[in-house]
Amino acid sequence: MPVDVKMGTFWSLSFALTLGTLVLGSAPKGPWDSFNYAPASRTVWAKSIKTVEGTVHNAHNLITKTGIATLSGNQSYITLDFGIEVGGLVSLRFNSVSPSSGLALSFTESPLFINPLASDDSTESSADRSLDGIETLDTPLSHGLWSQPSYRMRGGFRFLTIVSTSSAPVSISNVSCAISFSPHFDDLRDYKGYFYASDPVFHDKDFLTKIWYAGAYTVQTNVLPVDTGRQVNIPRGWANNATLGIAGPILVDGAKRDRNVWAGDMGVSGSTMFVSTNDLLPFKNALATMFSLQNPATGLLPMAGPPLSIVGSDTYHAWNLIGTYNYYLYSGDETWLRGVWTNYTKAVAYMESKVDSTGLMNVTSLGDWGRLAGDGYSAPGNVYLYRVLTTGAELATYLNEPDLANAWSTNATVLKAKINEVFWFPSAGMYRDNSTTELCPQDANAMAILFNVTTSEEQANSITKGLTKNWNELGAVAPELPDTIAPFVGSLELQAHFHSRNDDLAMDLLRREWGYMLYTNISVQSTLLEGYTSNGSLFFRADRGYHFDPTYTSHAHGWSTGPTSVLTFYVLGLTVTSPGGQTWTFDPHTSGLTSAEGGFETSLGWFGAKWTLSNGGKIFSATLDVPKGTTGQIRVPVEGAVSVGGRRVEKDASGFVRLSGGRQSIMVG
Ligand SMILES: *[C@@H]1O[C@H](CO)[C@@H](O)[C@H](O)[C@H]1NC(C)=O
Ligand SMILES: *[C@@H]1O[C@H](CO)[C@@H](O)[C@H](O)[C@H]1NC(C)=O
Ligand SMILES: *[C@@H]1O[C@H](CO)[C@@H](O)[C@H](O)[C@H]1NC(C)=O
Ligand SMILES: *[C@@H]1O[C@H](CO)[C@@H](O)[C@H](O)[C@H]1NC(C)=O
Ligand SMILES: *[C@@H]1O[C@H](CO)[C@@H](O)[C@H](O)[C@H]1NC(C)=O
Ligand SMILES: *[C@@H]1O[C@H](CO)[C@@H](O)[C@H](O)[C@H]1NC(C)=O
Ligand SMILES: *[C@@H]1O[C@H](CO)[C@@H](O)[C@H](O)[C@H]1NC(C)=O
Ligand SMILES: *[C@@H]1O[C@H](CO)[C@@H](O)[C@H](O)[C@H]1NC(C)=O
Ligand SMILES: *[C@@H]1O[C@H](CO)[C@@H](O)[C@H](O)[C@H]1NC(C)=O
Ligand SMILES: *[C@@H]1O[C@H](CO)[C@@H](O)[C@H](O)[C@H]1NC(C)=O
Repeated sequence: MPVDVKMGTFWSLSFALTLGTLVLGSAPKGPWDSFNYAPASRTVWAKSIKTVEGTVHNAHNLITKTGIATLSGNQSYITLDFGIEVGGLVSLRFNSVSPSSGLALSFTESPLFINPLASDDSTESSADRSLDGIETLDTPLSHGLWSQPSYRMRGGFRFLTIVSTSSAPVSISNVSCAISFSPHFDDLRDYKGYFYASDPVFHDKDFLTKIWYAGAYTVQTNVLPVDTGRQVNIPRGWANNATLGIAGPILVDGAKRDRNVWAGDMGVSGSTMFVSTNDLLPFKNALATMFSLQNPATGLLPMAGPPLSIVGSDTYHAWNLIGTYNYYLYSGDETWLRGVWTNYTKAVAYMESKVDSTGLMNVTSLGDWGRLAGDGYSAPGNVYLYRVLTTGAELATYLNEPDLANAWSTNATVLKAKINEVFWFPSAGMYRDNSTTELCPQDANAMAILFNVTTSEEQANSITKGLTKNWNELGAVAPELPDTIAPFVGSLELQAHFHSRNDDLAMDLLRREWGYMLYTNISVQSTLLEGYTSNGSLFFRADRGYHFDPTYTSHAHGWSTGPTSVLTFYVLGLTVTSPGGQTWTFDPHTSGLTSAEGGFETSLGWFGAKWTLSNGGKIFSATLDVPKGTTGQIRVPVEGAVSVGGRRVEKDASGFVRLSGGRQSIMVG
């Protein structure tokens, strides 16, 4: 890491001078750090007492490390509040016990399910399907420090209830949780990227910064030691000691559950990791696990890794391939790409073999993110195939396989025309799910914009406008999964609005959907929900295959973290456009804000920016700091002559100014 990498930014230099501290190789320090949800220590103690029931003396002592509380009477209990989502192994000290004393623990993410007789639900198959039960400590209890056995680790919770299970008193102290996620981080707050902007409209001006950090922390809670997966098919209770893949740490879908690799989820969480921690190893390990399980005969990749090991989804198959592209784009890790290339091409061929004489893919493996239908000649399946072919062609070019790149590009062009011919539904001004329905799904329409299936600005604008018809005050309700707000697909829609430069719509959706998730007191106010019903309740319905009870909902789900990368890529406006950031774009979407700053790291170094709009939005100024030796293009958000480093520069025909890397100041107006 070059020494001047992050010291060099104009603004961080001024912070360095003010605060006197800067850690090289980490994001610059600044006021944004106070919005980082990650705890300062890998062992955490409760922040407050949520509930006390029965006969409990000095309950408040348990928010200190040494104070003692005493529970007397069967079913007396204390509920501790850790203040944020945490997960790991609990320990506590017994200061006084009698031979007949008993104690049990129960856990929950949402405060709605605080219950001395049960934890919220993390298992699919326990006898009591709706609840995980309590963890009863072995008796007789003994003096001294007790620690949870490792298989009993609870992956995600905010509230811990400690209940006396006998009439004999028991005195305890020092109740803590040893965080188990992101095991390779000594300092969970040591991010490589940051984001900071003030929201001039929302009830909390720090909303945008908070949601960026909430997404980042959510994904940190989804990075697991490889041997701490959720066991399936256990008769009762829970066990988190299953093997998740070929190497760890590994990226999974959720902290409490499923604690399992899922291909689609990485389509959002992989990008979150990149811009926040730049910790791409867990992403690679998850993808590598999926490739290692490829069906040797057909080329089909799994939908979910072990222990669920679910096979049978053409769309999640595609997400594995899109994830591979994203991983390579962010990391520039060509060695790994070459290692999986044979499997990758075979997986593309699997999809191509499903294209029949109609020119469309016939989707036959139906698993997906929970939506209904989607089989046959469906819009989403074909939009995914288009993305696979175009990104595959890029990868083939990087690997010097021009013939393959051409063949995939040619097929992509033909497919794009076919999708527009068959699925475009003029009366709705959107794509429909298939040629016999009037339903215009959220997923295929959002992705069509994002993946450039649309052929004009007018078409994209018509879609984004159409998508707003699905909105209520809490977010975007998916027509293809009635009564459900699915922030995974919402994350794609959010990008689609920015991508088509409908920034006001994007900001509106962001404030509705993520504004709900971050602040609602039925969740954990630090990590992001997997999904909810259209009225905000926790009954996350997916009518195909599973019916969730409300306590099964995950409150820390990486697929809901779209805003983190979106704020960096679109609002800050800095993206990488070739592997590792050899080329990049700086194209801020000011979105009604007056300033934003942030950045991220790649193996080439620091990519940072800070922009300001002044004089009623007429003057735009920015500082940009990207590695020397790279090249990029900038697009400015206001009219007027552009100067870089005080010198006038010209825009090209598409409105971009070409620049090479280094530090520069940009001024317009
Ligand atoms: C997981 O823990 C359970 C309960 O202790 C044990 O029976 C099982 O063998 C463990 N499995 C693994 C893979 O360690
Ligand atoms: C404690 O209360 C629970 C729930 O009411 C009951 O099932 C259990 O038998 C009681 N235990 C003792 C030791 O009284
Ligand atoms: C308190 O708990 C921490 C974390 O488990 C442990 O390291 C420490 O030794 C405990 N101290 C006492 C006095 O129990
Ligand atoms: C490619 O797939 C085969 C199974 O078809 C698997 O054995 C092998 O490990 C995979 N290779 C990689 C690099 O994942
Ligand atoms: C799609 O493929 C399946 C399996 O081969 C076949 O049963 C079905 O008829 C095909 N659908 C169409 C519309 O051709
Ligand atoms: C391109 O599409 C044609 C027709 O579907 C197919 O036969 C061919 O295998 C495809 N090429 C590649 C490289 O996938
Ligand atoms: C077409 O899409 C609609 C809406 O998703 C769905 O209900 C229907 O089953 C689909 N039809 C076919 C033939 O797949
Ligand atoms: C998107 O597709 C159009 C053709 O419809 C093409 O001209 C354009 O280059 C594509 N954009 C990107 C970023 O690939
Ligand atoms: C959430 O806040 C509302 C309104 O203040 C309150 O009525 C409700 O009890 C709270 N719910 C929880 C679970 O704290
Ligand atoms: C919210 O929606 C769920 C699921 O549709 C329903 O069960 C519940 O009654 C609704 N709650 C309210 C307050 O309307």
